[in-house]
Amino acid sequence: MLEFDPFAESYFDDPFSVYKRMRDESRAYYHEGLDCYFLSRFEDIWEAVGSGHFSHRKGTNTQDLLADKPPNLALSSMSPPDHTALRKMLWPFFSPSSTRALEPFVREHVKTFVNEAIERGRVDANGELGRRISVRVAFRLIGLPQEDADRVADLVGLAFDRSSDVKGPNQRALDAQAELHGYLEDRIQERLEMPREDGLLDSLIAYRFEGRPLPADQILFNLYLFVVGGTETLPKVFAGGVYQLWKYPEQRAELAADLSLAKDAFWEILRVEMPTLMLGACAEQETEIGGGTKIPVGQKIMHLWVSANRDEREFDDPDRFDIHRKAPRILTFNNGRHRCLGAHIAQMEGRVLLEELLSRAPEFEIDEGGVVRIRSEFFRGFDKLPIVFGNA
Ligand code: HEM
Repeated sequence: MLEFDPFAESYFDDPFSVYKRMRDESRAYYHEGLDCYFLSRFEDIWEAVGSGHFSHRKGTNTQDLLADKPPNLALSSMSPPDHTALRKMLWPFFSPSSTRALEPFVREHVKTFVNEAIERGRVDANGELGRRISVRVAFRLIGLPQEDADRVADLVGLAFDRSSDVKGPNQRALDAQAELHGYLEDRIQERLEMPREDGLLDSLIAYRFEGRPLPADQILFNLYLFVVGGTETLPKVFAGGVYQLWKYPEQRAELAADLSLAKDAFWEILRVEMPTLMLGACAEQETEIGGGTKIPVGQKIMHLWVSANRDEREFDDPDRFDIHRKAPRILTFNNGRHRCLGAHIAQMEGRVLLEELLSRAPEFEIDEGGVVRIRSEFFRGFDKLPIVFGNA
């Protein structure tokens, strides 16, 4: 009998073989202790998130859903009509045309950081390259001071810290989350005292739904979502991509010789290197999923994104990394009502990082001794992935 424990060390060692068994043997796995169903097949998750039968009112991440902590009131936990209206107000910041306008800013910073890294001889793809870019983009969108970006990026990294003796965030993570809240509260207070028209923060302050402004705590939780969501995931995907390209040197050489392939290559990287293991929802009406399992109202479910992206029912030879695959759909950005708002921006950041790294240093190496893998119920991938350059 299959037994799935999302906190088990053996599962952190190899989530892929656990997921394969779940897809084959128990596609809607019920965990009694956590009172939660875990969906593992691509089609089941795609259908659930598109059905409109589930909400995020009990939260989405493992901290909310598996530990029964009440969720905060950010966009990601809201329901229509409030959710629809706030998303509509925010969309202009994330649209394809805004993304294009952001690209020169991203490229300039990526060039600088890649050049510095080559001079130094090494760089951590996650914390010292990807995260320094994604935090600057989030700060620019929100309208926060760029000089604070690196300090906040470190806090965001720490906010997901884990220890083997604690289920979920450890004390260091909780302290970093509290410090980040404090930092954002101060910036909101400043802006309330001295309004500007400088970005998403000012739009959140000016926003009215049915004539009422957002309560102060909701502005804070949304800022937290934008800083953390915007900063933390992209660098992990990028680090995973650097690793894949290093593992498959023919594909790396092909890409370096023709950088117009970078967009498709990053799409494939997003599929195989999705770092977020799971996010979930709660049923708002009785629903049948996963081949006939009845989900009652109020029931929590989790979407195993990483499993879905490797489902052999959706992808031929799913464990093969192939920059030419052009998968018609993936589940890295969710889908439906809560589809990632930053999806265009994230893809642009990833593409530019690949283009600049490969145009300057196509022959980079990985220092395998310095690799640190994430061990957590929430994220997988590389905590540290040291790239070394020929001069090191
Ligand atoms: C590779 C990078 C990224 C990945 C893999 C990713 C993934 C996701 C996923 C899976 C969701 C759905 C959450 C859920 O189901 O509860 C989401 C939502 C969201 N993401 Fe991203 N994201 C990325 C980058 C970004 C960036 C760069 C930003 C902002 C600058 C961003 C902002 C958001 C926001 C605001 C939501 C909430 C949308 C809503 O609930 O309506 N994300 N993201």
